[in-house]
Amino acid sequence: MHLHRYEKIWLMLGGGALILFIIILGINSFHMGMMPPSDMRVIDVTKVDQTPPFDKPGLKQISEKEYDLNMTAFTFGYAPANLEVPVGSTINFHATSKDVVHGLQIPGTDVNMMVLPGYINSTTHTFDQPGEYLILCNEYCGAAHELMATHLIVK
Ligand code: CUA
Repeated sequence: MHLHRYEKIWLMLGGGALILFIIILGINSFHMGMMPPSDMRVIDVTKVDQTPPFDKPGLKQISEKEYDLNMTAFTFGYAPANLEVPVGSTINFHATSKDVVHGLQIPGTDVNMMVLPGYINSTTHTFDQPGEYLILCNEYCGAAHELMATHLIVK
């Protein structure tokens, strides 16, 4: 079979791009792992209720204006359910799921993370404005997904 020189070059470029793409994809999925990028702490998903600090989910004051919030997500809610902190508080969110993949988003802030079974994900935010903040699930998790929400009151 005779291939034109330009056709050969074109085939080599195409083939090379394909091989490069497969290598990058392979490194991403096998070497780096399909894990939450911000945090890689793991937890036994069947023992969330027995594993500190998630055995007692809630707000824990760690300094004058800083709180740790240990939160569990489940179909279809969050524990603890309703929260209140003073204006100017910094909250360190630590969340894990007791069943499927959920989300934890607070619209109007940069709090937006996946809550995965088997992993503990964290983020931090300082609430300088008073108000009632909606905490909602933004990952489809089942029939009552749209009802999965709670509130954080900052005053
Ligand atoms: Cu939990 Cu959607």
